[in-house]
Amino acid sequence: MLLKFTSLLGFLAVASATDCVGVIRSLTDVAANQNCSTVNIYGFTVPPGQPFNINLAQGATVNLKGDIHFGNLSWAGPMFTISGKNIIFKGNGHIFNGGGPFYWDGLGSNGGTIKPRPMMKIKISGRFTNVKVVNSPAQTFSVGNPGPLTISGVYIDNSQGDRPNAQSNGLPAGHNTDGFDCSTMDLAIEDCNVKNQDDCLAINKGSNITFTNNQCRGGHGISIGSISANVSVSNIVISNNVITDNDQALRIKMKVDATNSTVTNITYSGNTASGCRDFGVLIDQSYPSILAAPGSGVLLSDVNFVGKTNVIHVNNDADRVAVNCGAGACLGTWDWSSLKVTGGIPGPVTYNGISGYIQ
Ligand SMILES: *[C@@H]1O[C@H](CO)[C@@H](O)[C@H](O)[C@H]1NC(C)=O
Ligand SMILES: *[C@@H]1O[C@H](CO)[C@@H](O)[C@H](O)[C@H]1NC(C)=O
Ligand SMILES: *[C@@H]1O[C@H](CO)[C@@H](O)[C@H](O)[C@H]1NC(C)=O
Ligand SMILES: *[C@@H]1O[C@H](CO)[C@@H](O)[C@H](O)[C@H]1NC(C)=O
Ligand SMILES: *[C@@H]1O[C@H](CO)[C@@H](O)[C@H](O)[C@H]1NC(C)=O
Ligand SMILES: *[C@@H]1O[C@H](CO)[C@@H](O)[C@H](O)[C@H]1NC(C)=O
Repeated sequence: MLLKFTSLLGFLAVASATDCVGVIRSLTDVAANQNCSTVNIYGFTVPPGQPFNINLAQGATVNLKGDIHFGNLSWAGPMFTISGKNIIFKGNGHIFNGGGPFYWDGLGSNGGTIKPRPMMKIKISGRFTNVKVVNSPAQTFSVGNPGPLTISGVYIDNSQGDRPNAQSNGLPAGHNTDGFDCSTMDLAIEDCNVKNQDDCLAINKGSNITFTNNQCRGGHGISIGSISANVSVSNIVISNNVITDNDQALRIKMKVDATNSTVTNITYSGNTASGCRDFGVLIDQSYPSILAAPGSGVLLSDVNFVGKTNVIHVNNDADRVAVNCGAGACLGTWDWSSLKVTGGIPGPVTYNGISGYIQ
């Protein structure tokens, strides 16, 4: 009888293995605690050069209860990877600190010191909320969710990298510090704040992505692209964002040598921008050049400014709108009736399918 009873307990223990509260106070706690239905992560320093990887049980809730600092060492990264389905991640306002100033040399991921990147790799569905991420060595978030995901209340602050440092030869120390790099589908990013030196959002491929009510300061604005060969991007909504002091507010960048790619159904609504240094809106099929001879291997259609007016103000010497399409590569009629751009000079537009907007 006793034997039967204990083996029954054993069976129950295995069947409900995830019904526990896991506590993580160091990397060595992760393996034994990540399967729990609730996982509490307390503040600690991740040893230099080691990844903080957490692979959660389906439906788990994660509570961040302290700040995470990453030790300083030049290595490839990523620094933090979170995986799992239907996860609720609550940051509770705590911080992930990447130690950026240790790596920053003005060259980002284009050269110099090898920088761990991305800092934060998000591979969950569910919700990821209320966390501050500071001083990313290079690219900050890479998002590849396995099901619908909402990211909200994330504050990315790389503004310390705006100034030169002893390693950066007079350049801003932070470089390629993208906010959110997304190659995914079914993603909503809302109520976030990004201060950086590169794209606030970059969508490289995917569909059903919304970017709403976010603030972008200091970088390269909100981007679709850069678009390479063999990818498609569709059903994207960029709405009610505030874009301050960026190179451009809104951009679609397509590589000049890309082939067999499509970008379609991009909707801009209710965005406002000020302090645009180079362009208000830039749609360019000559990337990585700017307004050079365009390629025609990316078919671009249905780019619309509709609904609530998009109000963009550009600096004196900036172009309001530039559209640089390759032969036959921009298609259909685009409704730009909810775009208003002031300041600067008109800028070149080589596509005649735009309606409702006059330079
Ligand atoms: C966690 O769950 C996975 C998948 O079910 C299993 O392979 C692993 O052994 C579990 N680890 C622990 C520590 O329970
Ligand atoms: C990494 O270096 C940066 C810059 O020197 C420093 O601010 C940060 O505190 C360091 N991180 C750790 C965990 O020591
Ligand atoms: C679009 O993505 C959202 C998550 O952002 C999801 O809730 C919704 O079901 C998706 N819509 C479609 C048509 O797949
Ligand atoms: C695109 O697909 C073609 C055909 O499958 C392949 O040869 C080429 O390498 C791919 N290009 C890229 C950049 O993936
Ligand atoms: C075009 O890209 C798709 C992926 O989007 C790929 O499956 C297909 O093989 C590519 N075709 C050619 C001719 O490269
Ligand atoms: C365009 O995208 C929006 C938002 O995802 C979607 O509701 C709409 O159905 C799409 N239109 C087409 C023609 O696919």
